[in-house]
Amino acid sequence: MSARRRVAVLISGRGSNLKALIDAARASEYPAEIALVVSNVETAAGLDVAREAGIATRIVSHKVFASREEFDRAIDAALTAANIDLVCQAGFMRIQTEGFTRKWEGRMLNIHPSLLPAFKGIRVHQQALDAGVKISGCTVHFVVAELDSGPIIAQAAVPVLPGDTAQTLAERILVEEHRIYPQALRDVAAGRIMLRDGRAVLL
Ligand code: GRF
Repeated sequence: MSARRRVAVLISGRGSNLKALIDAARASEYPAEIALVVSNVETAAGLDVAREAGIATRIVSHKVFASREEFDRAIDAALTAANIDLVCQAGFMRIQTEGFTRKWEGRMLNIHPSLLPAFKGIRVHQQALDAGVKISGCTVHFVVAELDSGPIIAQAAVPVLPGDTAQTLAERILVEEHRIYPQALRDVAAGRIMLRDGRAVLL
């Protein structure tokens, strides 16, 4: 059997998607292992999720760097030092430089709580409610320099119900996030999905 791909998860907060990835990677046949968790926020609850699972953690605070380039270089150094093959962003609230995204092109994934290309950026669930859509959902995509715009790997649709608030909609979408992110990582780690000519293609 080929070696499992070494994955780093970048977080800034709660870490529920991190936990979903960790749980999936416990299966012996899963083609990836979560080898490192990097947070730019020292108090991120997700760091405890990682520690409880016995996974190495690194805190790289953006506040100590003068520029985005220097911050990204520090993140990149942490990934390289840990021999990371693939990167999963999971609630990582920093925008990355073009150089960093280009270096990890095809090897860095993100999860976003809308059906992209609708509702990029922040306050995503409120954007969906304000637009009056009847279906929203979540998207796993390869990361490119432009925010929330990379080639789409997987999506799941979720109904928007009458009376939904941003919070109730977020909770319903989160269930699907936890389902599709481990599947998407599995497919990329196994080489079944690759970035080719600006598209995520199923081989
Ligand atoms: C998720 O909704 C994810 O889609 C978005 O940020 C949230 C992170 O939640 N990018 P968690 O930290 O994984 O619980």
